[in-house]
Amino acid sequence: MAEQLKKNIFSIRANDWDRKLFDELIPLPDGTSYNSYLIKGSKKTALIDSADPLFSDFVLGELKALDVRKIDYIIANHAEQDHSGSIPRILDIYPEAVVVTNEKCRNMLLDLLDIYEDRFRIIKDGEELSLGDKTLKFVMTPWVHWPETLVTFLVEDRILFSCDFFGSHYASSELYVKDERVILEAAKRYYAEIMMPFRKKIIENLKKIDDLKYHIIAPSHGPVYDKPGFIVDAYRDWVSDEVKNQVVIAYVSMHGSTLAMVDHIASELEHKNIPVQRFNLAEVDIGLLANSLVDAATLVVAAPTVIVDPHPLAQYAAVLVNTLNPKTRFIGVMGSYGWAGTMVGKLGSLISRVKAEVLPPVLVQGHPKKDDMIKISELAEEIYRKHKSIKII
Ligand SMILES: Cc1cc2nc3c(=O)[nH]c(=O)nc-3n(C[C@H](O)[C@H](O)[C@H](O)COP(=O)(O)O)c2cc1C
Ligand SMILES: [Fe+2]
Ligand SMILES: [Fe+2]
Repeated sequence: MAEQLKKNIFSIRANDWDRKLFDELIPLPDGTSYNSYLIKGSKKTALIDSADPLFSDFVLGELKALDVRKIDYIIANHAEQDHSGSIPRILDIYPEAVVVTNEKCRNMLLDLLDIYEDRFRIIKDGEELSLGDKTLKFVMTPWVHWPETLVTFLVEDRILFSCDFFGSHYASSELYVKDERVILEAAKRYYAEIMMPFRKKIIENLKKIDDLKYHIIAPSHGPVYDKPGFIVDAYRDWVSDEVKNQVVIAYVSMHGSTLAMVDHIASELEHKNIPVQRFNLAEVDIGLLANSLVDAATLVVAAPTVIVDPHPLAQYAAVLVNTLNPKTRFIGVMGSYGWAGTMVGKLGSLISRVKAEVLPPVLVQGHPKKDDMIKISELAEEIYRKHKSIKII
């Protein structure tokens, strides 16, 4: 629905309450929203971002309800279709409108959508665009989370329109964040799956937007931050090199042998005051697994051998971790096999992008015996020593 953020500034929020997956990968426990923003200046009217193509009618209906007869500029902060997909329909209905974006985003929009080349106006980093009594300033913020991404700052009202940056997949009837803890959880899940691979780039972009002295952050997913301090502080923490005294155990076990190993190491770690988060890969919400990897110092992958290799679910988890590339410092591998244990090398190669130290693996033939449990205790002790060495215990 359309709601006034400030005088002549409106949020048009398309709530996708029932969407269950994003990018056919990420579970959405709270649905999502695609937010666009309308700014009526004294001379020109601008629409910032649009919505997923499934919501084109919704956006056009809201513009009609706001009695918008003319749009001069459609600002595209990002080429991905969940924000750009309604642009072609809006261009059809508003013939004076041009799409304002950077060159890279223009080229991507031409690749992705059906838009004529003469309907673009290209802007550069730091450039301003006057709407009369209001000014838009464009700041290039590449890799949050595609190469073309930018943010738009409304100078007079100090509002930062950040698109995916700081977003949360959270459908809501509230315009502003109501419960910071709830949105922090949703935004962390969002960060883990979309932003985390670009941690270093985000550090640069956080510095860049600092200079803008914004009062409000209006993202294109989830509620608006009228007190943005908590989300920016959270991002600073997530992208920092600091890791927490936590161990994530991602495991699968067909007949309980690997499970017995997991139970043992979890209990040993807990006795050493190292919190453990366990994820059974057979039924995990990968959003929760990704979320836990934002902070944890250590990941342990535990799996049985299935046809020479690690169980396919463990391979999937390893590929996913490799894609998300968390700041995990240490990786442990455990597993059980029936007749030939060869899975460690495979898991290592699947996670090779993650710059973590791989600890000595523990492989057990069949169900773990007394000697095996001692080896697992030694792995727990090694994790403890490693956490001490980086001063998080
Ligand atoms: C479908 C299937 C395929 C297996 N393939 C292998 C294999 O290629 N090499 C091997 O050493 N063990 C193999 N095993 C044996 C398991 O790795 C072994 O039983 C292990 O202890 C199971 O651990 P779990 O109880 O944690 O599932 C296979 C077991 C199953 C059920
Ligand atoms: Fe995106
Ligand atoms: Fe998005």
